[in-house]
Amino acid sequence: MKIVRSIRRMQILCREIASKGRKIGLVPTMGFLHEGHLSLIGRAGRLSDFVITSIFVNPTQFSADEDLAGYPRDEKKDIRDIETAGGHIVFIPKTSAIYPEDYQTFVTVEKITESLEGAFRPTHFRGVTTIVTKLFNITRPDVAVFGMKDYQQAMVIKKMIRDLDYPVRLVIAPTVREKDGLAMSSRNSYFTPAQRKEAVCLYRALETARTMVIKDGVGNVAVLQRKMKNVIKSICPTAEIDYIAFTEFETLRPVQKVSRKHVCSLAVRVHGVRLIDNMKML
Ligand code: PAF
Repeated sequence: MKIVRSIRRMQILCREIASKGRKIGLVPTMGFLHEGHLSLIGRAGRLSDFVITSIFVNPTQFSADEDLAGYPRDEKKDIRDIETAGGHIVFIPKTSAIYPEDYQTFVTVEKITESLEGAFRPTHFRGVTTIVTKLFNITRPDVAVFGMKDYQQAMVIKKMIRDLDYPVRLVIAPTVREKDGLAMSSRNSYFTPAQRKEAVCLYRALETARTMVIKDGVGNVAVLQRKMKNVIKSICPTAEIDYIAFTEFETLRPVQKVSRKHVCSLAVRVHGVRLIDNMKML
């Protein structure tokens, strides 16, 4: 497996790969990989000839009060895990190369970045779409694999690919969960064992909503939200809920009456760690 740190070198390598008619798969990450990431690499491997995994903790998607400096990192382990998962190239650019001094160009997707995460993290998606654009331009992937765990991010990138005519096939891979249902996330490493047990509250609330929708035919958003809040508070009394939303899958438009085609997403602070999760009401 190759480790590439230079943007120029990465561009040259990708042009060489493409010129031989081989398909490039891209898995963008911020490192500190878990099984969820490795499943994305596996998926990219089945859909392309060359899997590039990028590791870049992207400063522009963090706001001043977020955990950029403390974001967990373990480059050596990440490289080992990517190789085991079948990756061919790891791209680890320097922050100063991606965003040189006096950097001024950003990519913004409008409406669908304004709700849910965007309402609480107003500059977040601008940072995500900017770095993903740069990674697309550097690697020119045929396929890019993102996780459903970051549901709104996946829909924003889908919109960006369409709006900017990127010839990239977007694949959204299912969320990988711990045994108790907690969605895998690099941020789970912040919890003490006792706190970690309470982090399951998001999954339990989602499962409760799903059962109410599909088994009991409940479609009323307020009723579902109330029940979900109770479930969250019963597991983690100190939890702070940012939002619980029911939306159309692709447009993220809020729905009045929930049915099986809709998605529930939520963001909750559990002992100071902001977790997000989502589930189709299928
Ligand atoms: O999902 C992530 O880890 C990041 O938002 C991404 C897509 C790698 C961009 O920095």
